[in-house]
Amino acid sequence: MSFVVEPQAEMRPGIIELRWGDPDPALLPMEIIAAATNRVFTDVGPAALNYGTNEGPLLLRTGGGGGRARAARIAPRARRPLDLTEIAATNGNSPALHQLTTLLVRPGDVVFVEDPGFSLALRMFRDLGVELMGVSFDQDGLDVDALEEAVASVRARGVRPRMLYTVATFHNPTGVSLAPERRRRLLEIAVESDLLVVEDDVYRELVYHHEAPRSLWSLAPEVEGSSEFVVRLGSFSKTLSPGLRSGFLTGPAPVVERFTQSGLLDSAGCLSQFTSCIVAETVASGDYDANVARLREAYGARRDALVEGLRRALPASCAFTEPDGGFFLWVTLPEGIKASDLVPVAERHGVSFFSGARFSVRGDDRGLRLGFSMYEPVDLVAGAERLADSIAEVLASHRASGGAWAYSAEADRPGA
Ligand SMILES: Cc1ncc(COP(=O)(O)O)c(C=O)c1O
Repeated sequence: MSFVVEPQAEMRPGIIELRWGDPDPALLPMEIIAAATNRVFTDVGPAALNYGTNEGPLLLRTGGGGGRARAARIAPRARRPLDLTEIAATNGNSPALHQLTTLLVRPGDVVFVEDPGFSLALRMFRDLGVELMGVSFDQDGLDVDALEEAVASVRARGVRPRMLYTVATFHNPTGVSLAPERRRRLLEIAVESDLLVVEDDVYRELVYHHEAPRSLWSLAPEVEGSSEFVVRLGSFSKTLSPGLRSGFLTGPAPVVERFTQSGLLDSAGCLSQFTSCIVAETVASGDYDANVARLREAYGARRDALVEGLRRALPASCAFTEPDGGFFLWVTLPEGIKASDLVPVAERHGVSFFSGARFSVRGDDRGLRLGFSMYEPVDLVAGAERLADSIAEVLASHRASGGAWAYSAEADRPGA
């Protein structure tokens, strides 16, 4: 018997769908997961199918060994030793972020986010009734001076600035990483402002050029007092499979304890014991590292193809980021053109993207996100060309009108 299971990402025929940032199904490690699952049944036994501890299986938290020396294995390339009291398994970054916010932020508190920022986190924060404040972002990542000013302005209103959510490395949606000097300054601001920094580090291992910058969490011991203010969320969604729903968090022991001793986890209804064990098996066996190496090569080639395609095809009036890792890059359109107005034109040309407004607290709509994870290099080059054609079409209408108006898809509709 075979089943059809619908994926999250909608793929329309004839359109190169650069909206999505899902792993390519063709690159999901079926054999590795099947082998690890079999080993879980033989090595772990029925315990893998039962309720587990709130912290997650020791096997996952230690990377297959016991105690502190092996614990760093599960936070690969994080470059900071950690204690078992400083790590917990999660069901992935999104549920962990939701839970942390529920536990540590009161409705009405201010949460700072990058603007543009990860759209699904913005939605989650809105669900929880916190006040969201977008902080400016440039080619070096979050503008830390703007953050400092924002904290002061919130304080002046008598409201509590409680948390900063940041994708500091290979940012979604722009692919930009926070500059090293800003990382240190950000940690100082966290201490000065009593601000919890939640570092969503989901893309760290998918690095294609240079080395991934040090995580805020790994830098914290070098900035006095800041260790107690940084929580790092790690996920196996991009490096193994999002369907497993497995990740981990590292942070100060009191925050980890608050997380693991919460009612949700205590109910034993939250953490997936089974998939945590499967992930632990892949890490312990070395298959995990081999898979990451394979993905880096495949996704790196895609990143290079899209960057090269855009370099060749886009008009000089467009700018775009050249990320060293992750799944996304960001195109900034010429003045006067709104990304959301470009969407229908681009789809007519056979390419899609998400426009900037989706990622912006302030509604900024001059940028657009391109995801390069789901297509082969040749399709990404074609996508770049189609995008360039659609921009050229819009620019031509703009010029024909004397450039005096902001382009609008409404006005461009035949007969309008
Ligand atoms: C920045 C960021 N955080 C979190 C996630 C989702 O992570 P998880 O599958 O671990 O919930 C994504 C996936 O798109 C992401 O881009």
